[in-house]
Amino acid sequence: MKRAARIFGCLVAALALEFPLAMAGDGVSFISVKQSSAEPPLDPLDPAWEKLAPAPVTLYPQASVTPGADGSGALNVSVRALYSGKTLALHVAWPDAKPAATRAIGEFADGIAVQWPLRYGPGVSLPYVGMGHGGAAAALWQWRADGSVETLAAEGFGTLTAQPPDGVKANGVWRDGKWQVVFTRAFVPPKNGQYVRFDPAKQGVVPVALALWNGDAQERNGKKHLSAWQALRFEKATANEAYVRQFSAAASGNAENGKRLMAEKGCAGCHSFPGNPAQPTVGPNLAYAGGIHHADYLLESIAKPSRIIVPGKGYSMVQNGKRVSLMPAIQSTEQERRDIAAFLQTLR
Ligand code: HEC
Repeated sequence: MKRAARIFGCLVAALALEFPLAMAGDGVSFISVKQSSAEPPLDPLDPAWEKLAPAPVTLYPQASVTPGADGSGALNVSVRALYSGKTLALHVAWPDAKPAATRAIGEFADGIAVQWPLRYGPGVSLPYVGMGHGGAAAALWQWRADGSVETLAAEGFGTLTAQPPDGVKANGVWRDGKWQVVFTRAFVPPKNGQYVRFDPAKQGVVPVALALWNGDAQERNGKKHLSAWQALRFEKATANEAYVRQFSAAASGNAENGKRLMAEKGCAGCHSFPGNPAQPTVGPNLAYAGGIHHADYLLESIAKPSRIIVPGKGYSMVQNGKRVSLMPAIQSTEQERRDIAAFLQTLR
């Protein structure tokens, strides 16, 4: 009996190693931040990182605003995270056959950015995942393979502004066909800039998204891959479970019916997506909409197009002094919106 229990215990441990992504039974996923008594190492090759289970994060070509990076497919990045009493550290790793480390005319360096909402928490809606939107700023830590590390803030594409240094450190190593980069920063930033704050005792969950540029593929600016907002969860902190679930919730609709509604409601007349032979460019290409957007965002895009306006050229107009989306609010029932959102979630 005892022996059986031990074997079972080993089996569970082995399974945990085999499927290390922090995935609760009901499909809720998050990136777990392990507590460490020592300060987290800035060296990506430090053995402390090897001991942590990596959480997989998928990045998709940015296709909402032209010029995008469409056509190059999804990319998997693994994320490990540690925190001490005052510092947060992220270790990100991704495959890249050949490093691109110089920036010159016509040459672009590999790079990765970690994106945070300036304000977050239950009840606070997230900034647009592509660098925020008016009134909802995103803070970014950006590392490039030429050695540069910057802290930036943005309220939408094209509004990126450099912030005074806030103590972010980053260190990248390319070895055996893969980049490994570590970012560290103190929980409490200086006061004079647009910086993210961490306070695990107050909020155990912080939204985070990644953006990645492959220099060899001429990626820079909006030509990039990006992830959806992910939940970063401090191991020893209390988390609002409903808030964590929001990050991986599925729209409770019928995707088949949603696909049919895309034609019936006129969506297919403005948006390109796989299976739409017309390939119009009036609105954003939705080819990866399910990969980078949550169900909540997709539902709201249909019901209230002007609340968050994708900042692409020609996507909006000014009406009575206010910027409004070219997309009309589509006549639809709650169930129809859920069905459409369920279909959009399959696009990735
Ligand atoms: C008249 C053209 C038009 C129609 C019809 C239209 N859209 Fe849009 N859509 C746009 C434009 C322009 C934008 C970008 C501005 C914005 O964010 O509202 C947009 C944005 C979106 C976004 C956000 C995309 C992103 O990358 O963030 C989604 C999702 C979306 N539309 C879905 C739909 C669905 C579903 C329908 C049908 C129910 C639909 N649209 C009908 C023009 C249209």
